[in-house]
Amino acid sequence: MSQDNVIRIFDTTLRDGEQAPSASMNVDEKLRIAHQLEKLNVDIMEAGFPIASDGDFEAVKKIAQTIKGCEIAGLCRANFKDIDRAWDALQYAGDRGRIHTFIATSDVHMQYKLKMSEDEVVERAVAAVRHAAAYTPNVEFSAEDAARSRLPFLARVVEAVIDAGARTVNIPDTVGYTIPSEFIKIITYLRENVPNIERTILSVHCHNDLGLAVANSLAAIEAGVRQVECTINGIGERAGNCSMEEVVMALNVRQDILPYKTNVDTRHIYPSSKLLSSITGIMVQPNKAIVGANAFAHEAGIHQHGVMMEKSTYEIMTPESIGLHQNKLVLGKHSGRHAFNQRLESLGYELKPEDLEKTFVRFKALADQKKEIFDEDLDAIVADEIIRAPEKFKLIQMNVTSGSFAAPTATVEMEINNKISKVAIIGDGPVDATFKAIKKLVKSKAKLLHFAVGAITGGTDAQGECTVRIEENGREVIGQGAHPDIIVASAKAYINALNRLETRKDTRQHATL
Ligand code: KIV
Ligand code: ZN
Repeated sequence: MSQDNVIRIFDTTLRDGEQAPSASMNVDEKLRIAHQLEKLNVDIMEAGFPIASDGDFEAVKKIAQTIKGCEIAGLCRANFKDIDRAWDALQYAGDRGRIHTFIATSDVHMQYKLKMSEDEVVERAVAAVRHAAAYTPNVEFSAEDAARSRLPFLARVVEAVIDAGARTVNIPDTVGYTIPSEFIKIITYLRENVPNIERTILSVHCHNDLGLAVANSLAAIEAGVRQVECTINGIGERAGNCSMEEVVMALNVRQDILPYKTNVDTRHIYPSSKLLSSITGIMVQPNKAIVGANAFAHEAGIHQHGVMMEKSTYEIMTPESIGLHQNKLVLGKHSGRHAFNQRLESLGYELKPEDLEKTFVRFKALADQKKEIFDEDLDAIVADEIIRAPEKFKLIQMNVTSGSFAAPTATVEMEINNKISKVAIIGDGPVDATFKAIKKLVKSKAKLLHFAVGAITGGTDAQGECTVRIEENGREVIGQGAHPDIIVASAKAYINALNRLETRKDTRQHATL
């Protein structure tokens, strides 16, 4: 077992993270996140579950073909069909391709889900690892629900898969059930009772059902594991996974008692968090550690005073160390292309020349309406123009009349599959009329579940930001839009959600976990 002081960061935002409700992403969006993970310099990124759907397969293949700076993992159950499909997609990464196969080892999973005996589980695990190892030596095995497994059986499985060729063995707390002191005992038990444990890298994968995923991962590191599985913003199944930014910054900030290092370039943490939120529409709560809007805000007068005198009075890390530059007031209507590009770069965006042009035009239009443009405005422009680029349905123009005596009426013109159509509809209010018009043009049956508007910055000239959640045939997606006119922002958010619904129609067709 590797006893160096390097903690490998295995990011599973694109696989476990994508299993979070409303977090599904299309191939292009996954590729964007993959490039960001490469900048973060994670050691391994789990790009998907190739047998789950054609979209998952394509995403893993594309990422394996494109990303050169990290290992690329693909998940598969412990059967030959899953493994063959995974390798079909991963082979393009060569020796950086990692097959990650798993089977459950807890009594409850074996009895009710797998309906298999202990011997059958061991046999299946060994056969899967051997089959994977025939493709690549880079094989990881996970004992699903390990934290609730009987330890002698868990040790038996771990020993057998190491003998079969598993270079990394992962001990998941699949249901977020364990606590740090217990997890230390589990890891220590394995280190003391698995004779060939030195031949593998031990890993953990903690879910956050009790809010302990990061604490459990750190405890496991202290007990000897050298790989941590995690996700940006901690997204994932149910309460999510161990948050990448939290575990990495804990290791960075507490070097005094955690003398380990990761290869992560922490300056890309904040842009990564924002990119993921823009793509999935899932925002982090303001008090979220490291990346929440209030993580570096000092409200109490006594705190503000302390920070002005000496930052370390109330700040245990600098905002710059996670790539957050608090230079709020940025640009105005006289700012040129150069200043605009520079500001985008400092926010972590590297845009293609044609995308820069598009965002610059939008910036100029906004600067005509709004005196001061803040970083948040630029984020919203990039998200709106580039990250959430319209696909099938596009808003061309709209006009809404409303007030205390006129019936609210929306006239909406859209491009749908390259054809322009227009409709005018009366509604209960301006947003209702707008959504009805869009729904009619798109011929959508989606149900609106949630609608929220907010202001991106302060002031009455602030851009409005709207978030909607819609559902059709059991698929839920989130859409977002920003504009100085909140009704236009609402229309954009609704259209964004409808586009996302379209591109997610292929997800998880073939297999689920
Ligand atoms: O939570 C879990 O056990 C998993 C495994 C497939 C690694 O996600
Ligand atoms: Zn998981």
